[in-house]
Amino acid sequence: MTSGQKRSGLLIIFEGIDGTGKSTQVQLLSEALREQGCEVVTTFEPTAGPFGKKIRALFTNRASLSQEEELALFMDDRRWHVQELIAPALATGKIVISDRYYFSTAAYQGAAGFDPEQIIADNETFAPVPDCVLLLEAPVALGRRRIEESRQEDPNDFEKEEGLRKVSAVFTALKRDYIKRIDASQSIEAVWAAIWAQVLPLLTERGLKVK
Ligand code: TYD
Repeated sequence: MTSGQKRSGLLIIFEGIDGTGKSTQVQLLSEALREQGCEVVTTFEPTAGPFGKKIRALFTNRASLSQEEELALFMDDRRWHVQELIAPALATGKIVISDRYYFSTAAYQGAAGFDPEQIIADNETFAPVPDCVLLLEAPVALGRRRIEESRQEDPNDFEKEEGLRKVSAVFTALKRDYIKRIDASQSIEAVWAAIWAQVLPLLTERGLKVK
């Protein structure tokens, strides 16, 4: 299913560099939507499917793969995600909220040297274009500090500061009407308020009554 095809559900994506609080906000949004009576499916990438598992196993030693192989793995994982989870849920009218999607490939593999716009175009041959991308933006140093504090662990190969600066720059350069920038350096409550302000109009557009 691509952007031109009809679907009844809603696809909302959270993007941003590591440590911007995506998973907390995914949780808050899914709870708020369920309270509104919506059927919500929350999901994430890299997935828990066969390719996602392979990617996670490689986290600590990214150099064991060529950049081409790494990009191919993320694409395979996305195909699996769309086919097994996203497309069926959208077809039955559910709201799908995903922690990462193809904008992460554009930003991370784009930072590694691939053309971000080409990555987006390749993904859009098979992956539904989202209704809304909530791009959580915060300084790289802040994200890194949050990772270290919350997980009490060193950043993995994807999370090294210099690389993340490049990733962040690609995210910032992405321009689409449906990409909404959120200042994620604020408190959890303030970030949440900014997110809800973006999502509410989508619900009313779909004729969903908001309590
Ligand atoms: P992350 O969301 O941090 O997973 P978790 O919170 O479970 O550790 O994703 C892992 C890393 O994968 C993250 O640093 C970004 C990277 N990534 C890519 O490089 N390309 C992609 O297409 C995706 C989806 C993720």
